[in-house]
This record gives sequence, structure tokens and C-alpha cells, in this order.
Amino acid sequence: MTTATARAYPNIALVKYWGKRDSTLMLPLTGSMSMTLDDFPTTTTVERMPAAEADTFQLNEEAATGESLRRVQKFLDIVRERSGSTDFAAVRSRNEVPTAAGLASSASGFAALALAASMAYGLPLDPAEVSRLARRGSGSATRSVIPHFAVWRAGDDVTSVAEPIDAPDMRMIVVVVDAGGKEISSREAMKRTVLTSPFHDAWVTSTELALDSMISACADQDFTRIGRITETNALRMHATIQACDPPIRYLAPQSVAIFDRIRELRDAGLETYGTADAGPNVVAIARPEDADAVAQSLAEFGTVRVMAPGPGAALLSDSDAL
Ligand code: PMV
Repeated sequence: MTTATARAYPNIALVKYWGKRDSTLMLPLTGSMSMTLDDFPTTTTVERMPAAEADTFQLNEEAATGESLRRVQKFLDIVRERSGSTDFAAVRSRNEVPTAAGLASSASGFAALALAASMAYGLPLDPAEVSRLARRGSGSATRSVIPHFAVWRAGDDVTSVAEPIDAPDMRMIVVVVDAGGKEISSREAMKRTVLTSPFHDAWVTSTELALDSMISACADQDFTRIGRITETNALRMHATIQACDPPIRYLAPQSVAIFDRIRELRDAGLETYGTADAGPNVVAIARPEDADAVAQSLAEFGTVRVMAPGPGAALLSDSDAL
């Protein structure tokens, strides 16, 4: 089969990945852990075109150019190298994530592309291999291959893949403060952090410890510890990024107000914790039975969506092809 379609969902990290050890192999400096969401999917069809002279990429029915086309072409170069095929491909994607809003559209995008391309080019389809390939497109895509909860180990080229981890059922309340594109890509900001943030070494050591504690909190089904690790790790990431030269600040005044509200809710006995990626949107986590109350309280800050643990990357049938 030379045409394949796959779907994948974004994920939000509870222990964040921020900084690369090797930017060609996309090896992270630390491990990370995330929940895959059950909405905002990306669907991607990869069609091998033996007679074509270049790859093409269509996103939401528009021909992509520039950087986003280049990233897909570079990714397909890796697929060609692994498969031994020289065929170019036509890639068509539909993205239901608000693109570049700090909601990790690159995670669902490259996870879906990795699986569809693996199928179309005859590469191995087991989740570890697809996760390893997805990593080359975008670090966070490594984890979107896995359903529900995933741990991505720093590792080396072969072992730096995501694996499932059991965690207590929870909900993510995504507060979309701003769905516009971000000013500085996570790729650029990560580089600047590694080069200029004086807090960077502390970020790496504290994140390694946070991941160990997170894994044991998950094994204990201890939501309170999971929440505390999540919020602390997110705010440490933002502190590290803010300390760059020149500084980068992703959190908006509105984002900070949401973190304050989350603490107030906690003080009032509604247990919820916050996190935020490289953008102004804030994600609260809560036990399933508390999610609606948390969502209601955060609705005044932006559009609110309640998300459950979602599926991993999956192949779709030919009738779903784009
Ligand atoms: O892989 P990228 O470039 O999408 O970077 C992801 C960085 C964060 O979303 C901020 C953290 C994470 O672990 O997802």
C-alpha cells in the first residue's frame, strides 16, 4: 500500500521537555511525561508519488510553503533514508488544533505523519518505532503516538521513545486565552534557553527529579502529588525561559491570573493544578468529578475545553483519506 491515512491527538506534558541534547537526532536533555488529549486531532494522508519531482504538503486544504513545507520535506527525507525508497510524496493534513497556540499542533501533526508515512513507505509500525520516527519531526510528537499517559525517556537514538504509563484518570481543562500564533517558536526558545539562561542547569537537574517523583506518584495513583509536581515543573520551565537573554515571556497577564484562580480554587477545597506550554494558554488538571466545576470557574478567562485521556496515533481506512 503506497497511500495511508493516520490520526493523532495533541498531548500536554505534566513534566515538560525543554531543551535538546542533540538537535539533529532530536534527543532531549531530560525525560518528560504527558497526557494525550481526546480532541483537537490531526488527520494526515501520505500518498507516494513515484513520478513527482518534489514533496508537497497541504494543510487544511491550502498548499503549505516556507518553513512548514520544509519541515515536512526534511521529515520525509528521514523516511526515505530508512525505507530505501526515493519516492516523493503528497501529504495532506487536517488540523483541528488551533495552530501554534501553545497547544502542540506539531505533536499531533508529526505523530500522524510518522504513522501514515511508516505505512506508506513500508517501515515498522510498532509504537516504539513510530514514536522514534515522530521524534525527528518534533520532540513532543514522540509522546502523541501513545494513548492516555506517556513517558518519553531522554535515551539515545534507539531508546529515546515514549512508552505508556498508568496514571489515575483525570481531566485537562484547557483555557484558550489566545489562539493566535506565538512570537518565538519553541525550537528557537529552547536554543536560547540552553545558551543563555543561567537557570538552565537547575532546570535539567530538577526536571530529572520531577520525572522520577512523577513516575512514583503515578504508581501510587496519588493525584495530589501528580498535581504539585505538574504545577511546579511548569512554572520552573517558564522561570527558566524568562531568564534568557534577550528574555522570552510566554505567559500573558491573563495566564498569570488563571494560575492565581487555580490556587484560590485549591484553597477553597477544589483540587486543581495548572500547567502551560510555550504560549499563553493555561491547562488545569483535575479529578474527573471536579472537572466541570473547575471549567466553570475558569470560563471567564477564555474558551474552556474539558479533555479526557485520548487515543494514541492510529491508522484510518481508505475511506477516511484526505
Ligand atoms: O516539541 P516541541 O517543539 O513542540 O516542544 C514542546 C515544548 C513544550 O510543549 C513546552 C513542553 C512539552 O514537553 O510538550
